Amino acid sequence: MSNDNSKQADRKKPLRSQAWFGRQDKMGFYYRSFLKNSGTPQDRFEGRPVIGICNTWSELTPCNAHFRVIAEHVRQGVLDAGGYPLEFPVSSLGEVTMRPTAMLFRNLASMDVEEAIRAHPLDGVVLLMGCDKTTPALLMGAASADLPTIGVSGGPQLRGVYRGQIIGSGTNIISMSEQLRAGEITLAEFHEAEAAMNRSAGSCMTMGTASTMASMVEALGIGLPENAAIPAADARRNLLARMSGRRIVEMVGEDLKPSDILTRAAFENAIRTLAAIGGSTNAVVHLLAIAGRLGVELSLDDFDRLCRDVHCLVDLMPSGRFLMEDFYYAGGLPAVLRALGERGLLHKDAPTVNGKTLWQNVESAPNWNSEVITPFETPFKTEAGIAILTGNLAPNGAVIKPSAASPELMRHTGRAVVFESVEEMHDAVDDESLDIDASCIMVLKNCGPKGYPGMAEVGNMPLPAKLLRQGVRDMIRISDARMSGTAYGTVVLHVAPEATVGGPLALVKNGDMITLDVTARSLHLHVSDEELATRRAAWTPPKPHAARGYQKLYVDHVLQADRGVDFDFLVGRSGSPVPRDNH
Ligand code: FES
Repeated sequence: MSNDNSKQADRKKPLRSQAWFGRQDKMGFYYRSFLKNSGTPQDRFEGRPVIGICNTWSELTPCNAHFRVIAEHVRQGVLDAGGYPLEFPVSSLGEVTMRPTAMLFRNLASMDVEEAIRAHPLDGVVLLMGCDKTTPALLMGAASADLPTIGVSGGPQLRGVYRGQIIGSGTNIISMSEQLRAGEITLAEFHEAEAAMNRSAGSCMTMGTASTMASMVEALGIGLPENAAIPAADARRNLLARMSGRRIVEMVGEDLKPSDILTRAAFENAIRTLAAIGGSTNAVVHLLAIAGRLGVELSLDDFDRLCRDVHCLVDLMPSGRFLMEDFYYAGGLPAVLRALGERGLLHKDAPTVNGKTLWQNVESAPNWNSEVITPFETPFKTEAGIAILTGNLAPNGAVIKPSAASPELMRHTGRAVVFESVEEMHDAVDDESLDIDASCIMVLKNCGPKGYPGMAEVGNMPLPAKLLRQGVRDMIRISDARMSGTAYGTVVLHVAPEATVGGPLALVKNGDMITLDVTARSLHLHVSDEELATRRAAWTPPKPHAARGYQKLYVDHVLQADRGVDFDFLVGRSGSPVPRDNH
C-alpha cells in the first residue's frame, strides 16, 4: 500500500473524482475551494481516491447510534491508505420506531444511497449498516451505483440478561408478551426485562434480520471476514472498520466493484449460508432485490433448491438457545462457511472484497464451540432455513422457516379463521367468543407489499389468549405479510400474489379447509375452481391507502414478494457515469 500519488499510474482506470478535483478551470476552483474550508490541503484530495463513508447514523435508529464512532475508524483507515474520506448521511431506517413499517422505506433509502453516490465525486464507498432494513437498502443502492464498495456492519448487542437468564432481542419480547397476556408474569417484571434486554450498543443479538443480513454481507463477499458477528461493543468491530477503510482505497486501484463480487455464485453461497444459520425469512426478499439491481437471475425456486442440502448448524435464537455474542466466540460465520465448503456446498472461488476467494478466507477457520456451531454430521436441525411452498393458495410462492416451526404442524389440515386486516385480527384475537381452536389455521389478508402498504412484520399473529391459557404455544398462521427475523412459529409468509391485488388469498373464507404440507412444499385451499371463480367475480379490491407522495409512488411501482418487493423501475444494472456539471 502506498500514499504516493504515482500510484495513479497503476490504477486500472482514472479516478472518477478527478472529473471534479482534477479540473484546472472555473469549476475546478469551485470543487477544490469549497473543500478547503475545512482546512484540507489540496494534496489530500487531488489524485487520491475519494472514499465516501455512507452513514446511517440516527438517534431515531438506536441500533445504529454508535455509527459515528465506527465512521471515525473507517476514516482513519482511509487516511492510513492514502485516500481522502468524506462521510455523508443517508436515510436511516429504525426498525422499531418507524411506522407503518421500515420496509415501506427500504426502496426510498436505496434510491437516496444510489443517487448520493452517483452525484458526488466519489471513487469508492464504505457502507455503514446495521438495523434490519439499512443493510439491504445500502447494498441495493450501492449495487446500482456499482463503484468499489465495502460493507461494514455495526455489530450485534451483547447478550440480554434478565434475572440470571439469557434473553434475546425480539424472541423474548414475543414470549414475554404472551406470558403477560396469559397472566404468567407481572407488568413490573415486563418493564424490568426491557432494560435488561437492550443493554449495549448494536443491533438485535438474536439471529434476526439484522444479524442475518450482516451474515449475508460476509457470505456474499462484500464485507471483510468476521463482519457478521463481532459485537458492537468489542474493539475488534472498530478494527474491522479501520481495515475496511484501508482496503477500500486498494479496491479503487483494482476497480473491484459490486458487479465483480455479487455474482450468481455469491448469491448461491449466501442462500446456503442463510439455511445454515437458520436466518431470517426477510433475507429472501432482500437477496432477490439486491440481485435484481445487478441483473443476476434469482428466483424463489433457487432458495428451495439450494437450501435442501443444508442443515441448520447454529443453535441461535429464535430457532435455538444462544445469541450472536456466543456465535462470535465460537468462531462466527467463517466456521459455518468452512463447514459448508468442506461439504461441497460453496462456490469456493467466489471473489471477496479483500482480494481473496471466499474459501481462502475460511479454509482454516476454527470452531471453538460445537454446541453453538454444530458439526455438519450432527447438526442442530436437519430441517434447514427456508422452504418455498406453492399451490392454489400461493401460485407464485410462499415462504416458511422450518427450523422455527413446530414439527407436528409441518403437515396439517385445518379450518381457516380469516382476518381481512391486521386491525380486524387485533380486535378479534382475544375475543372469548372467537370460534377457534388449536387445530385451526389463522389467515391474515391485506398485509402484503401493496396492501399494508410496506408488507409489515405481522405474519406471526398473536395466538388467541384463550388458547394461550390452555397451553397452546403454536398454530399455523398464513399471510401475505412478513415476520420479524427474531420471531418463530409455524408461520407461512410472503404469499404471492398478495390479497390486495386479487391473489387467491383474497378469496379464502372462514371455515374453508387448508392443507400445509412442508415436505411436499404445498399450500392447498380445499375449494373448487368453480367456487373460487364465483368468489373472484364478487371480489372488489380494497381502497388504496395513498393518493399522493412517496406512498403513491410505492404502491404504483412495488413488485410482489417473489420479485423482492423492489420498484419495477429500479430493477436492472445502472452504474455511475460522471453526471454533467451544473455550469
Ligand atoms: Fe434494529 Fe433489531 S430493531 S436490529
